[in-house]
Amino acid sequence: MSDSEVATLTEEQAKAELARLAMEIAYHDRAYYRNDAPEISDADYDALRRRNLDIEARFPALVRSDSPSNKVSGSADTGFSKLRHRVPMLSLDNAFDPEEFAEFCARAKRFLGWTEPLAIVAEPKIDGLSINLTYEDGVFIHGATRGDGQEGEDVTANLRTMKGVVPERLTGAAPRLIEIRGEVFMTKADFLALNEAQAAAGQKLFANPRNAAAGGLRQLDARITASRRLSLFAYAMGEVSEPVAETHAGYLERLRGWGFTVNPLSKTISEDEAAAFQAEVGAQRSALPYDIDGVVYKIDDLALQRRLGFVGRAPRWAIAWKFPAEQATTVLREIRIQVGRTGALTPVAELEPVNVGGVLVARATLHNEDEIARKDLRVGDTVIVQRAGDVIPQIVSVVPERPRGEEPYRYPDICPACGSHAVRPPGEVVRRCTGGLICPAQRVERLIHFVSRNAFDIDGLGEKTIQEFYAEGWLHGPADLFRELPAREAEIAEREGWGKLSARNLARAIAARRTISLERFIFALGIRRIGEANAKLLARHYGSYGNWRAQMLAATTIGSDERLALGSILGIGPAIAEELADFFGEPRNVTIIDALAAELTIEDAAVAEASDSPVAGKTVVFTGTLETMTRPEAKARAESLGAKVTDSVSKKTDIVIVGADAGSKARKAAELGIRIVSEVEWRELTGG
Ligand code: IVH
Repeated sequence: MSDSEVATLTEEQAKAELARLAMEIAYHDRAYYRNDAPEISDADYDALRRRNLDIEARFPALVRSDSPSNKVSGSADTGFSKLRHRVPMLSLDNAFDPEEFAEFCARAKRFLGWTEPLAIVAEPKIDGLSINLTYEDGVFIHGATRGDGQEGEDVTANLRTMKGVVPERLTGAAPRLIEIRGEVFMTKADFLALNEAQAAAGQKLFANPRNAAAGGLRQLDARITASRRLSLFAYAMGEVSEPVAETHAGYLERLRGWGFTVNPLSKTISEDEAAAFQAEVGAQRSALPYDIDGVVYKIDDLALQRRLGFVGRAPRWAIAWKFPAEQATTVLREIRIQVGRTGALTPVAELEPVNVGGVLVARATLHNEDEIARKDLRVGDTVIVQRAGDVIPQIVSVVPERPRGEEPYRYPDICPACGSHAVRPPGEVVRRCTGGLICPAQRVERLIHFVSRNAFDIDGLGEKTIQEFYAEGWLHGPADLFRELPAREAEIAEREGWGKLSARNLARAIAARRTISLERFIFALGIRRIGEANAKLLARHYGSYGNWRAQMLAATTIGSDERLALGSILGIGPAIAEELADFFGEPRNVTIIDALAAELTIEDAAVAEASDSPVAGKTVVFTGTLETMTRPEAKARAESLGAKVTDSVSKKTDIVIVGADAGSKARKAAELGIRIVSEVEWRELTGG
């Protein structure tokens, strides 16, 4: 079809055509990236994408949330479609000691009015990733990762490669429908073997078995999953069409019967036996062939589970009693100082690599200079490092009995990146480089922030790429992203790891961001203390880029009306006003912003007025597929009218807007008696 035909499309035709193009482009992306077997020429592929862009330009309201122009093929597109869980996948509350565990039992018993000891099933808490497997009449239909708890990634093809682990067919009698849940993980031995093979092949190493399992499952090429040796313990149930057991222990038996592996340490105990079980499993932990990070205790009686239900995102009938953090002893080799976007100097400990509970640790956070002084850390000291869950490893203390480092550590007062003075204002914990934009570390960090997800969100431009392009001398400031990089497309294509298509995709991703909302623009500048929330406040207050810039320049004068007005914006205040004034008081910053703005179309923000909309102050949830607006659009509009948009339905929700195919959220809203409106009703309510 020619361009002139785009001009004559009706809205309905355009909508259908955008849907078709999204599918077709995704198909060719898969052929190219996943199968290494493109089916059309680059020129034809380009034409598809251009047509998509042209139609979107004519009908901006029809831009799909999965629009191909919002993604760089093969990178942002994970290639997986989404699957909605019939029953949400929730998380567990944690306990860390016997008192917290006793409190869990007491709470459940109070809730039930129960006085007897509770029968409980104890199961190791596997450190993997949870998965939801749907079986219909005993046949495996599909499986998804947990995702956001409501919907996950459809990894069915990969799960099907896990022969003997994910049964294709349940053995024996099975309900009409059941969601079976469990944890996919990699054994320690398989993890070590995989890393050895990766090293031999010069490929990247995985940090721990869990990452390796996640990487293995989320492979676009199912053949890779098949080679990864993934394991599964089944342990829970989502939706089920008819009862399959009366107790959790009974359910675990059914799972075994159907052909799943259930953790062999799972055991029915009384609540009084939990502490002993915890100690017993804790003692075995390091010898187990897989990683665990605690024990999950579940009230055995399923009828009681149903009565107990959920609070927030966790069930009242189960708790995860976590093991204490794991520790190990090693040597502090060096203290390295990193310089952040706003010039903050952060110390990082470089350690003699040490195995802490199965994970190789070579670095630890040191927080700040006072922390080093307080612990009297010296290079050469023997130290205790600790890892608690996903938290970055920390240094707990020095081992005083071991030979100490000679010199007390002297924190630098010169920036290691640019040699400017690094000063620490009285009353602050952080020392900062005063070099501002002459400091290369700050410049790079600002660029990295600039392209990040919630700022300009330029696909294909990650931290490493920015560093490389910066080192080439291509990027002095953010304007160069729009000037230098598109001009260097051919050069980029020649670089290692690039190629024509990725260079072109990058150029496109950049072009797509030449139009940007005022709030993203402000946030992207990386001004100290201007995070997303403050950027939004500023955008809504000042409305347009021109107005904002003029007002900020005027606000550099202390005592000016503009400065006072800035400081009195609700949520901003005088300290943040001063930060903005400092930024705009620096002529080099203004030069940089002006150069950048010259490359862009910065969209006005809807100026917030004390909203008299009927939805002002209401908490609302959108669910299902919206027909007349995209999710981000719906959210932005609701927020501009003073509503608060959240993701999940709770008692605090005031209104639920249901689109097509709405599922569990709509059901839950109905159960809670929350006002439910259709998309059309919502539009009437909000005057749009
Ligand atoms: S039961 C309603 N049992 O822990 C919650 N979860 O923090 C049902 N996990 O997302 C979960 N081992 O990934 C359960 N034996 C076990 C588990 C387990 C590991 C994970 C699971 C869940 C997370 C909750």
